[in-house]
Amino acid sequence: MFAPVSDLILGIETSCDETAAAVVRDGHQVLSNVVHSQIELHARFRGVVPEVASRSHTERILPIVEQALRDANVTPNDLDAIAVTHRPGMIGCLLVGLAAAKALCWRFGKPLIGIDHVQAHVHTGFLADPAMPLPALALVASGGHTALYLVHGPGQTERLGTTRDDAAGEALDKGAALLGLPYPGGPSIQQTALGGDPHAVALPRTLLGPDSLDFSFSGLKTALLYTLRPQGSEGPAEVPTGDRLRDLACSYQEATVDVLVTKLARASERYPVRSLCIGGGVARNTRLRERLQQDPRLSHLQLVLPHPSLCADNGAMIASLGSHWYRQGQFAPLDLDAVATPQAGGKAKVRR
Ligand code: KG4
Ligand code: ZN
Repeated sequence: MFAPVSDLILGIETSCDETAAAVVRDGHQVLSNVVHSQIELHARFRGVVPEVASRSHTERILPIVEQALRDANVTPNDLDAIAVTHRPGMIGCLLVGLAAAKALCWRFGKPLIGIDHVQAHVHTGFLADPAMPLPALALVASGGHTALYLVHGPGQTERLGTTRDDAAGEALDKGAALLGLPYPGGPSIQQTALGGDPHAVALPRTLLGPDSLDFSFSGLKTALLYTLRPQGSEGPAEVPTGDRLRDLACSYQEATVDVLVTKLARASERYPVRSLCIGGGVARNTRLRERLQQDPRLSHLQLVLPHPSLCADNGAMIASLGSHWYRQGQFAPLDLDAVATPQAGGKAKVRR
């Protein structure tokens, strides 16, 4: 098949609470990456309210796309294709990005590429380092998903394990709520934990037996709850402050990071991987990055730690995976649907 010398892809992302668009050349040159976060709109609800999110996407999507094109100094006619997240996510949110992408494709005669959001996080390593040694181990840790993948190449991924209950980001968000810290919990726990003692408070590391590559974080959250309000006690929960709050945040963050690093070490012993990459909002965490760099069990692997702006939800990762699909000729029809769930088994589906 004819392999294009160069490609220019617009990526659009509206699956959750970020309205984002980016222009990427050849899958890794980020020409623009515009993200509008709705955190302020949802903070008082301590989570994303779907109706509020989709209304905000509707107001923002066109100015954000225009800005992404302007920042990249390109016009819609210059694009080779438009890639858009069509799953998984909140349907009302996905539909906004999907409608914008379809309208642009129809108006400018460009092919549409449908992107699985979780797969875009899995492929972030290729965006950060197109020469990432393969096979690679990929960790996706976000507010909605926590999973490990074996990556053989673009579009060739195999899910090794996933969470059985809460995602890592969800555990941090819920833990922060128990500690009285603001939403989203990951960044506020990281900030509060600075200078704290990671072993001050004993919290569980749920590993699900010696062989499992799955995750479970619900017990950690419950353990924090019982630390603040011992089981059977009638009184109100402790509201920690000062050093105690700092140590609790630090211990909670350490327990979360410990589980992620332990599972990565386990997987790296079992599979002949040459590199390790991370994606998803939790991959922004500085303690996680530090632990990955220090762990002797991972020292034989090339670490691909994408810039934090590429880990949280963004359009560049959508355009980057779009570039791989473009080269493989995997296009979507203009009646592509929004789907709430990720691809079955986490495998990258080959369309057409
Ligand atoms: O990937 P993402 O932006 O959205 C989803 O697809 O879910 O991830 C959001 C999650 C939230 O749970 C948030 O608390 C967490 O990522 N997060 C962090 C950090 N920044 C965001 N967790 C730990 N440390 C951070 N610095
Ligand atoms: Zn995400």
